Amino acid sequence: MKLALVGFGNVGKSFAKLVERKRSEFPFHITGIHTARHGTAYDASGLPASPHFGPPAASLEEFLDRAGAEALVEITSLNPETGEPAISHLRAAFARGMHAVTANKGPIAHAYAALRAEAAGAGVQFRFESTVMDGAPVFNMVRNNLPGIKVTGFAGVLNSTSNVAIAAMRRGRSLEDGIEEARAMGITEADATFDIDGWDSAVKAAALANVLMDARVSPLAVDRRGIGRLTPERMSELAGNRKTVRLVTRGRTTPGGEVRLRVRAEVLDETDILAASAGTSNLILLNTDLMGTLGTVSISPGVDQTAYGVFSDLVDITRAPGFGAPASAAMGGSTPAGRR
Ligand SMILES: NC(=O)c1ccc[n+]([C@@H]2O[C@H](COP(=O)([O-])OP(=O)(O)OC[C@H]3O[C@@H](n4cnc5c(N)ncnc54)[C@H](OP(=O)(O)O)[C@@H]3O)[C@@H](O)[C@H]2O)c1
Repeated sequence: MKLALVGFGNVGKSFAKLVERKRSEFPFHITGIHTARHGTAYDASGLPASPHFGPPAASLEEFLDRAGAEALVEITSLNPETGEPAISHLRAAFARGMHAVTANKGPIAHAYAALRAEAAGAGVQFRFESTVMDGAPVFNMVRNNLPGIKVTGFAGVLNSTSNVAIAAMRRGRSLEDGIEEARAMGITEADATFDIDGWDSAVKAAALANVLMDARVSPLAVDRRGIGRLTPERMSELAGNRKTVRLVTRGRTTPGGEVRLRVRAEVLDETDILAASAGTSNLILLNTDLMGTLGTVSISPGVDQTAYGVFSDLVDITRAPGFGAPASAAMGGSTPAGRR
């Protein structure tokens, strides 16, 4: 499958290496890469993992037309407020009959239902596994392994920076020390308050609800409070009672069928399964109608795992019924992850 990458930062570079490493088994070829400031690269026979960039394409549309790929890999920076321009990038791909994969949670949190409908209308696949758990299977687990399941709620510890900062405060360090520690690990957003104030978790909550619970919410609908008021003194007091804190993201369906979303610094018993998410590890539990509560844990994921999530989405696309058929004849479209 020929791929057009938009964005070639941490995830893009790791993804290009992964594609090279697995090519004998999975024949993916990157025929174009477009960036914001580093120019554009093309090669119809496949670019190397460290390509030479030429002048930038005049527009995203021109880039897609010239790259001649079957799938767009959208891995540009997150815009948490609107999800743009990634939403427009995905639309341009669908309009050309291209499948699309993104690691960018903005489009899923802001425009999932519309994008799903547009992909289905174009007869192409749309995937986004890396948006919430850095590539560990959440959406594809529900899609591929839990047929007929209805997800009624979820609870997760999904923000690594907060986890690292909480651990630092438990060791008696300040919140700022904890943020610095996380920054040195390269895991904070450009503006770390986005992590600490719970915005990153709120964007993930909206993405999970939109995909798994068929909600139509944006991150603004999330009742959000971060870990900004936590102190080392409070953490020490809690440790004395064998308790700790995690920034927990929760979603639930009310008896009236409404989806409610919340991000909070929650006090937990040290033995609570949510408290097991140490350091940069992530954890999510899904509440379901037929399988009780089950979940996914990812121990210390990094950018290579995010790249793997993109890769696994592309492999999943090639396995979908109708793959390789003309776009208008492709079967399956892009049904919601929890509804097959
Ligand atoms: N890093 C992770 O572990 C991780 C985990 C999960 C999800 N994600 C998501 O994956 C995406 C990529 O992350 P990253 O760490 O690779 O980001 P990054 O290192 O900041 O790279 C972003 C890339 O996007 C390009 N870009 C930005 N705006 C663009 C535009 N309008 N048109 C074309 N290219 C544009 C940038 O171009 P220039 O190079 O020219 O600046 C850069 O190559 C983000 O949405 C992020 O939230 C990342």
